[in-house]
Amino acid sequence: LKVLSVASEAVPLVKTGGLADVAGALPAALDQQGIAVTTLLPGYPAVGAAIGKAKRLHKWDALLGEPAQLLSAKIGAHDLLVLDAPGFFARDGNPYSDSAGKDWDDNWRRFAAFGRAAADIASGAVKKLSFDLVHAHDWQAAMALAYLRFAPFGSGPPVPSVMTIHNMAFQGWYDRKIFGGLELPKKAWSIEGVETYGGVGFLKSGLQLADMVTTVSPTYAREIVRSEFGMGLEGLVASRGDRVRGIVNGIDTKEWDPQSDPALAANYTARSLSKRKANKRALEEHFGLEKSDGPLFIMVTRLTWQKGADVIPEVLDHLVGNGGRLALLGSGDAEIVDALKAGAARHPGKVGLHFGYDEALSHQMQGGGDAILVPSRFEPCGLTQLYGLAYGCVPVVSRTGGLSDTVIDANPAALAAGVATGVQFDGVHYHALASAISRTVELYRQPKLWQKIQRNGMGADFSWARSGAEYAAIYRQLTGEKA
Ligand code: ADP
Ligand code: GLC
Repeated sequence: LKVLSVASEAVPLVKTGGLADVAGALPAALDQQGIAVTTLLPGYPAVGAAIGKAKRLHKWDALLGEPAQLLSAKIGAHDLLVLDAPGFFARDGNPYSDSAGKDWDDNWRRFAAFGRAAADIASGAVKKLSFDLVHAHDWQAAMALAYLRFAPFGSGPPVPSVMTIHNMAFQGWYDRKIFGGLELPKKAWSIEGVETYGGVGFLKSGLQLADMVTTVSPTYAREIVRSEFGMGLEGLVASRGDRVRGIVNGIDTKEWDPQSDPALAANYTARSLSKRKANKRALEEHFGLEKSDGPLFIMVTRLTWQKGADVIPEVLDHLVGNGGRLALLGSGDAEIVDALKAGAARHPGKVGLHFGYDEALSHQMQGGGDAILVPSRFEPCGLTQLYGLAYGCVPVVSRTGGLSDTVIDANPAALAAGVATGVQFDGVHYHALASAISRTVELYRQPKLWQKIQRNGMGADFSWARSGAEYAAIYRQLTGEKA
């Protein structure tokens, strides 16, 4: 079975968030299931640099107005197709915004072209390439399904499709005036097509047209039929019934293994937890923190409302007052950054901040921190709590989405059964987070119990094996249905 995975980012080439981790790791898991995945990526500068001189497979004189070519490359075990369209993708900044953080005005055209290319490839436009199924990730890839349905290259029946929602909050919604620029036939302008609340909805089109919709945890799959989580698309999600499934993300256990992680000052296993001390010392140094016998909390996150990062400045006094310290790595909203800076200024030596994006530091924090705070208001899956589990950095999480599905709260029953892996709390506000911090400090003060919680987490199965098998089963079901 040959699958074309369409994603706007993938590790190790380009990453702004968890989507890249997943798009980068899933192919190897599916390979274990006998499924060959090829990933289509936009030709951003970093991708072009990584693949070097690559073979050209196809050329478009004008792909939604820009010349483009399709390059093929292999990076490690990854089979890649790269859409080299300099007019769309040869830009500084990140995949979606300029260096000042402002979204590119023509994102609709950039990612419609990306979808157009994916649909061409999947419907036979490129000699020597054929696929049995298309798997589109998030709004940036979703238009592939609209082009496949309404304007395929060939005349045969479209290949089956899977649409994965990594985050319902980012939908790619645009004013109706862009419709003409999409080069779709008029019939695509309907509620069964791309029309969405009077405009064009990229993610909505994918949800509408995919043969199967998946999201990245079972709890999030249930949440998005409700208006608090569905962001306007809850009705559509509900109408798709059992065509919506939740499959929890795994992690890349080669990239994220404390026993061999080259970023760490000291490597360790569940049996040598005391070696984590050297990593903690390194963190204290990096963040300018005083030594103490209380827990070192960490956070690695986008600084946004989704992530509850705005509540952190409010709980700093409580956290420090209870003997805790905080090391935070993140980037995002200017208001949150300012509030964090003001809070840290009140607690010199207790609260350390590092603004920016730093992959190696994120590993070091998981390897040296005692507990990771993940107070998200919604969280489709979340990966940092999984990395925390794998590294013995105990997750303290709000009970939502994938955070509900991956952490076992240290309540009396779980403690008695010896299965707790972290702390969960309900609602993202000062009181909930403050009491979760107090509970965490109390657990930390009982070293035997704390180590048990760490070891439980490290022993949990967060590999891709099981989830990979679930995706494979869906691919087989869909290709069987269409055969
Ligand atoms: P989301 O994709 O919604 O941001 P996830 O938890 O799924 O949330 O994934 C976030 C990914 O990005 C993780 O791999 C996390 O370690 C990484 N990350 C987030 N912020 C930073 C940062 N400032 N520096 C390094 N890595 C970061
Ligand atoms: C999104 C979600 C996050 C999820 C990631 C990978 O960025 O916000 O919860 O873990 O995608 O699926």
